Parts: sequence; structure tokens; C-alpha cells
Amino acid sequence: MGNSYLEAKAKLEKYGQEHLLLFYDKLNPEDKEKLLNQILSVDFEELKKLYEQIGKQEENDKKIEPIDFVDKYKIEKNQYEEYKKIGEEELAEGKLAVITMAGGQGTRLGHEGPKGTFILNIKPEPKSLFQILCETLKKSNEKYGKIIPWYIMTSKENNKQTKEFFEKNDFFGYPEGYINFFIQGELPMLDKNGKILLGEDGLLKLAADGHGGVFEAMFKSGIVEDMQNKGIEWVFVGPIDNPLVNMADEILLGLSKIKKAMAAGKSIIKANPKEKVGVFCKKNGKPSVIEYTEITDEMANATNNNGELLYGESHLNCNMFNINGIKKIGAEKLPYHTAFKKATYIDSKGDLIKGEEPNSYKFESFIFDAFEKLDNMAILRVKREEEFAPVKNKEGVDSPATAIELYNNYMEKIKEKGRK
Ligand code: UD1
Repeated sequence: MGNSYLEAKAKLEKYGQEHLLLFYDKLNPEDKEKLLNQILSVDFEELKKLYEQIGKQEENDKKIEPIDFVDKYKIEKNQYEEYKKIGEEELAEGKLAVITMAGGQGTRLGHEGPKGTFILNIKPEPKSLFQILCETLKKSNEKYGKIIPWYIMTSKENNKQTKEFFEKNDFFGYPEGYINFFIQGELPMLDKNGKILLGEDGLLKLAADGHGGVFEAMFKSGIVEDMQNKGIEWVFVGPIDNPLVNMADEILLGLSKIKKAMAAGKSIIKANPKEKVGVFCKKNGKPSVIEYTEITDEMANATNNNGELLYGESHLNCNMFNINGIKKIGAEKLPYHTAFKKATYIDSKGDLIKGEEPNSYKFESFIFDAFEKLDNMAILRVKREEEFAPVKNKEGVDSPATAIELYNNYMEKIKEKGRK
């Protein structure tokens, strides 16, 4: 047995994870090497800590308060014109880059393949989510005579398919060299007893580490440096699952520049206390978001004197960072949140466990946990019907059907406006 095998074995014994080598002998030479590399690169100490922290409330000691925001439609006219002018200048000078987070799995949507390849049956013709976003960017490029560099974050699982999709479609006519792909990180999944899962292929079962991994991945893949060389000052980071995402918003840019904000986020009024959206707030005086999976009923239902939800500024996952903000956040890891998920795996006795019910822990970091590292953040409240058409579920709320309607209606409204 080679050195790396012995090294891996010793590491596993130390952390009670010996089962990971159960099928080593049955693997082909290539997979043997892969497995050993996986084991040697896992931070077992970190995983142990994550497992020990499961179920422990960390938020109790944090002081939560509502956060200030600017309503795009209540800005005084002269001020609005100033924001617009400054935002337009930033775009004309090529100061904006866009990152689309497309590393998610789209499990709820039931779509095979990267979520961005999902075809939305919009008017006048069906288009994939990737194409819709690409065309939005192209419009801005034409308007300002500058090409926005577009970076697409994929996962190990969907990177190849994503790239192939773009190649097959000639990058939807986006100027050559202006689309870049980079891969987010992964973490092992754990069973209820803290044992690392083995996949049916005999290798570690890894899962994408959440979109908070975007910063680490940006630094690792040289994107921050690339952006700096291009003179980028603002980086819009948004999702793939919202065809109305407004990635080059003059007002958001102007507001951020004037307020010298290190980050900026878009919000809309939360439809009801149970809507599945995170909400902006302040935690210990710092900008933050409480995720819908983590908010208490009491907070979700709390209202102010006007009867409005106290925590009603929904986080659209459409945020922008100043390049200096990104440097301040740095390549360090953000805290992980735990999700209990269904997984099919081989257990430590070698039996196949089918995930009919949630049975495993997955750890994800969230991009908005980075806000707490920055002092000043601008929040711009926009209109739901103009910027939010989420494609999350197969049917019902936030499904392709609701997104298509929202998208078509908004496009129609813009056309009407243009005709007037
Ligand atoms: C997300 C936000 C929520 C917000 C809502 C608005 C999180 C954790 N929560 O919820 O605050 O109100 O959108 O629609 O984001 N992604 C990756 N890599 C990953 C995980 C996700 O790139 O490892 C991407 C997805 O492809 C997608 C976006 O991040 O573009 C959102 O991810 P998802 O997990 O679907 O978030 P939601 O639960 O819908």
C-alpha cells in the first residue's frame, strides 16, 4: 500500500471514519486515487465541529433589528436623476461585472441538468433561463456601449453540462471572451451519526457548499484579480432562477456610489409572513438577512405601528458588492448552515440506504452572511412585478407557470411604455 493510502487510513482512524475505505479494493486504479485525494483534502476537524454544532442555536445572543432602506419609487425627483446619471456613467465606463450563481441543483423544480438550461415558455418564443439572462445583459451592453464581463458560477456536478450548453448555443451571441465559468466548492455530507456518506460509486458523497462559497471560489480561480485588471468596481451577484433579474440597474449603482456602500441589495415587500424568502435586518448593528428556514414565527409575524411587517424587506438574492468590499470579505469561509436532506448512500456497514425521507446533513454557506463583515450596505426596495419572477417549484407558487406570467406581463408593460 502506498504512502497516501496509509496517510488517508491514519486520518480516518483519528476521526472514526474508517468505513470510507470499505470498498477501496473494489475500485479501479483511477477511482482509488480519486478516493484517496478526496480523503486527504477533507478538513475532518471542521466537519467534526459542524456536526457537533447541529441543533445548537447560535442566534440567541444576537440583537436583531429592522434595517433602513430606500424605496426606488419614493426617491425625490432630483435625487433620482442624480442616482441615474451616476449609475449610467458607471456602466458607460465599464465598471460593472456580473456573477450568476448557477451551481444549485434545482431539485424542487424537478429539472434534469443545470437550472439555467430550463426552458421557459415565454412570449414570443421559449427560451432557456441562461438565454434570457444573456439577452438582458446584451441590452445593457448595447445601451452603454460597454460589454459587461459575465462570470457564471457552476458546481462540480453541473460545470461540464453548463459549458456544453453555452458552446452548443454559440454563447447566445455574447461577445467572445466575456463569459467565464468558475466552480464553487464542495463539502462531504454526513449521516445522523456524523459519519461521512459514501456514494454508490464508492467515492465520498460531496455536495455544493452553498452560494456563500462564491467568494472563496472567486479568489481561488483568479476572478478577483481578473476583475481588478479590467477596472471593475461593482460586482452584481444574482441568481439563475429569476428571469426578471435586473443585473445592470443604474439606480442601484448610483445609490451605492453616492452612499459609498460596500454592498447593496434589492428588496421587495414580503407578500405574507410565510412567504419563502429571507428578510433583510440588522444583527448586532450589522446588515444581515434572516433566512426563511431560520426565522421564528414571532419575528415573521411582528408588525410596526402602521400594521406593516417589521421584517418585511424580502431578500431577492440580487445583491451587488464593491470590489473593495469583496477584498474585505476575503477568501475566508463564511459560517455554514445545516440542512437535513434526502440522500442515497452506502452506510458504515456497507448497506445501501435509500433516501425516501430526509436522512443526512448538508452544509451550506449563504452569500448574505458576508454582509455582516461590511459596515455600510444600501438596500433598494423595488417592485415585485418588475424584478421578481422566481422559478423554484414544479407547480403552484414560484413555478414556471407563475414566472412566465410575470415575465410576459412585465415585457408587455415595457413595450407599452416605449410606445407612449
Ligand atoms: C433564496 C435565498 C432567499 C431569497 C430567495 C429569493 C438563499 C439561501 N436564500 O432562497 O433568501 O429570499 O432565494 O428567491 O439563497 N446556488 C448556487 N450554489 C449553491 C446553492 C445555490 O449557485 O450551492 C444558486 C442557485 O442556483 C440559485 C440561487 O443560488 O440561483 C438560489 O438558491 P436556492 O437554494 O434555490 O435559494 P432559495 O431557497 O430559493
